[in-house]
Amino acid sequence: MTKRIALVTGGTGGIGTSICKELASTGHTVVANYFPADKELAESWLAENKTGNLDLHIAPADVTDYDSCTTMVQSIESELGPVDILVNCAGITRDKTLKRMTPDQWNAVINTNLNSAFNVTQQVVNGMTERGFGRIINISSVNGQKGQFGQANYSAAKAGLHGFTMAVAQETAAKGVTVNTVSPGYIETAMTSSMPEAVLTAIVGAVPVGRMGKPEEIAYTVAWLADERNAYTTGANIPVNGGMFMSA
Ligand code: CAA
Repeated sequence: MTKRIALVTGGTGGIGTSICKELASTGHTVVANYFPADKELAESWLAENKTGNLDLHIAPADVTDYDSCTTMVQSIESELGPVDILVNCAGITRDKTLKRMTPDQWNAVINTNLNSAFNVTQQVVNGMTERGFGRIINISSVNGQKGQFGQANYSAAKAGLHGFTMAVAQETAAKGVTVNTVSPGYIETAMTSSMPEAVLTAIVGAVPVGRMGKPEEIAYTVAWLADERNAYTTGANIPVNGGMFMSA
C-alpha cells in the first residue's frame, strides 16, 4: 500500500474523528480540518487521538470560505505533500420546518454542507488528475436520499452533494480519480444526540437493524472507498443506514 496524504474536513467531529483514525490506521498521513475558532479544541483532539503510530495532523479553514480553503491546502501541500484522498465531511444541522426556517438557517446549511465541497475539492482535484490518482469521498446522508421533516435545508444540501459527486466522477474517471458518496443513517454523534429525544427514539425504532449506527461503521466504508485497489467504483452513493432507506 502506498502511504498517501488524506484531508478530512470536519475531521475533529463525530464521524470525522473515526474517519481520520481509520485512514491513519491503514497507514496514511491524515490531516483533520477544523473551524478556525475551535483551535484549542482541535489541539486537545490531536493530543487525545494521536496515539501509537497514527500520523495525524490538524489544519484550520472555514470551509464556507473559498480563500480560507486555498490557504489550508497550500500549507498542507508545502508542509506534508499533495493531497491524494479528500473526505468532505464537514456538516451542520439547523432543523426547522420550512414555515419557520430563517434565511440564515437555510444559508448556513447550504454553505457548510454543500458549497464547502466545491470550495475544498477544487483545491485538490487538478493535482489528483495530473498525478493520475485520487479518491474523493463526500459524506451525505440518508436524509438527502429520502428527505426529512424539519430538514429542507439539510436534505437539499445532502442531495446536492451526490449530484456533485456524479458530475465530478465523470470529469475525473479517465484520470485515476474516483468520486463517491457515503450516505449515513442516524449515527451516534453529538449531531443526533442534540435532537429531541422523542423524535430520535421514534426514528431509530423504525430502523430495520434496530439500533443507531456507529461512527466506525461509516469510517470503515470510507476506508474501503479510499483503498487504491478500489479503482472501479465511482459516482456511487453507498448507503450505511441500517436498512432505513433502500433503493434499487
Ligand atoms: N411527520 C409529520 N409530522 C411531524 C413529524 C414528522 N416526521 N415530526 C414532527 N411532526 C409534527 C409534530 O408532531 C408537531 O405537530 P403539532 O404542531 O400538531 O404538535 C409539529 O410537526 C412540529 O411543528 P413545529 O412547527 O413545532 O416544528 P419546528 O419548526 O419547531 O421543528 C423539528 C420541529 C425541529 C423539525 C423537530 O421535529 C425535529 O428536530 N425533527 C428531527 C429532524 C431530524 O431528523 N433531524 C436529524 C438530525 S441528525 C442528522 O441530520 C444526521 C443525519 O444525516 C441523519
